[in-house]
Amino acid sequence: MARIVGGITTSHVPAIGGAIARKLQTDPYWKPFFDGFIPVRQWLAEVKPDVAVVFYNDHGLNFFLDKMPTFAVGAAPEYRNADEGWGIPTLAPLAGHPAFSWHVIESLVDDEFDPVSCQEMLVDHAVSLPMALLWPDQKCPVRVIPVCINTVQAPLPSARRCYKLGEAVARAVQSWPGNEKVVMIGTGGLSHQLDGERAGFINKPFDLAFMRSLIDEPTWSTQFSTHELVEKAGTQGIELLMWLATRAALPGAVAQLHTNYHLPISNTATGLMLMEASV
Ligand code: DHB
Ligand code: FE
Repeated sequence: MARIVGGITTSHVPAIGGAIARKLQTDPYWKPFFDGFIPVRQWLAEVKPDVAVVFYNDHGLNFFLDKMPTFAVGAAPEYRNADEGWGIPTLAPLAGHPAFSWHVIESLVDDEFDPVSCQEMLVDHAVSLPMALLWPDQKCPVRVIPVCINTVQAPLPSARRCYKLGEAVARAVQSWPGNEKVVMIGTGGLSHQLDGERAGFINKPFDLAFMRSLIDEPTWSTQFSTHELVEKAGTQGIELLMWLATRAALPGAVAQLHTNYHLPISNTATGLMLMEASV
């Protein structure tokens, strides 16, 4: 039986890629952000997960507005990164685990979720940068199962639905007969708005309440509609759905082993959490 060892949630601002390329990790602007990852890397080195399920939102690299799945799961042997136009280096491909991915897809469909299955899938900064932050030697030791949630084009899945997706992914992982250790990773958020009248909007009290809720009362944010969440966290802050799905994919109570919150990086309030699973 595969075992869920914990969850990591982090922001995924493209500028991080530029900072890594220019080795700005100790620069005063970047240091409080990059230093947040040190305890998480230590935990990963100790726990040594074999597989990462990555909840993320594509920003137009793999899916565009003409065809937009609500949920999609990768079942590819590898996941390549490609130029998105941010002017940041393209990172090395990540290894997939097709057999495990297909099991997750089959289990989700049995569980009344109907994701698009992707035997080819490009992954954008929402996957490549968190992996580069977690394994800075750029030799990612885990095999990846990407789970993509639409936050780009209406209608978006509700927080309640994303929570249920996370729970269904946990059931899928726990019913895989292999003995892999699995870490859940969620990337996006926290509060930010890149466009419109509220461009630059950040809501620190809401972000901190949301982070706290993942430990104390994980379904708290499922009371809010998509519009209410956008009001509270900004248009792109809705990416916090990835954090919610990740938390829901950790069965039972979790221990918060580490947290960091720093703002702003680019236009975004950046957060980081490491949660250890108890089941
Ligand atoms: C920024 C944040 C994002 O989540 C993203 O996908 C792109 C840009 C930013 O703050 O610059
Ligand atoms: Fe984003």
